[in-house]
Amino acid sequence: MTRYQTTSSSQRLTIKHLREVTSILTVAGSDVVKGLSQAKKTLPPRYFYSDRGSELFEQICELPEYYVTRTETAILQGCAAEIAEITGKCELVELGSGSSTKTRILLDAYSQLGLPLRYLPVDVSAGMLESSAKQLLNDYSMLEIYALAGTYELALQQLPPKQLPTRMIGFIGSTLGNLNPEECKIFFSQVTQALQVGEYFLLGVDLQKPKHILEAAYNDSQGVTSEFNLNMLEHLNRLYNGNFDGSQFEHLAFYNEIDNQIEMHLRSLKSQTVELQTLNLRVDFALGETIMTEISRKFDIETIKQQLKSHNLVMQQVWTDANNWFGLFLCQLQ
Ligand code: AVJ
Repeated sequence: MTRYQTTSSSQRLTIKHLREVTSILTVAGSDVVKGLSQAKKTLPPRYFYSDRGSELFEQICELPEYYVTRTETAILQGCAAEIAEITGKCELVELGSGSSTKTRILLDAYSQLGLPLRYLPVDVSAGMLESSAKQLLNDYSMLEIYALAGTYELALQQLPPKQLPTRMIGFIGSTLGNLNPEECKIFFSQVTQALQVGEYFLLGVDLQKPKHILEAAYNDSQGVTSEFNLNMLEHLNRLYNGNFDGSQFEHLAFYNEIDNQIEMHLRSLKSQTVELQTLNLRVDFALGETIMTEISRKFDIETIKQQLKSHNLVMQQVWTDANNWFGLFLCQLQ
């Protein structure tokens, strides 16, 4: 079993690159092989986030139809000071930090209260992680950053020792929506294992709303979401020496009202065979066959509350917007 890890640090910035453990049981790309070998083909959404994919996601956040980021930002602006008062001196571990744009609202609140803060962003896009960490160091002179490049699972298992009295794990932006109910449970238990009693979990989730609003948000008129979806194939080509032809697939997104989730697919425009050489994989597609690349679940507040409670995460505060489109929850581990 080998574990490759590199850590680089300057005075206020440390970046740790987490690597998948290579063994017979877990091989890089085995999730791709598994997903593409099923009768209903799927790919894990984390493959969206090449450096290019992360940039495209930033563009999505600004789209007029994509209400998600705007709504959560407004909620955060209203409650950040309250969050800082509740936690006091704190280390913020953010899962899926991306550009850390919304996080700045929290950083501002802590600095206005004169509270020291250590920031531990986690992201699969190392490029995005490094560039946003450097920006933050420029803008926040007292901030210390320990960045972890890799998956949430690995990061939660390998957090560095705590240097401030408490910790808050932040999982905002409704990334939870990418997990199916089973994965959700596993995720919550990983979170509670990484926390000590009395520490905090800040969760932001998208809530149920009329279908036409949801479908517009994932079928924007500028085609950015389509480009984001198709970029996954380019990313897989680079990672695993593949020959996906993006022009032979199309973006598809719709709301599944039974499971309360947006589903994003890539639909094959012809009968074709694709190869991923590094993975030793050949995949046949029928005309019209799809790969599901993402679920984006839409939650209701009561269900989320109960689930958190069953993991000993006790709700401290719930914030929403006037339309009840998005929910932000602050819980404490009991
Ligand atoms: C980052 C998972 C919250 O589900 O809305 C945006 C990703 N996909 N448009 C979402 C996404 C298509 C986004 N999350």
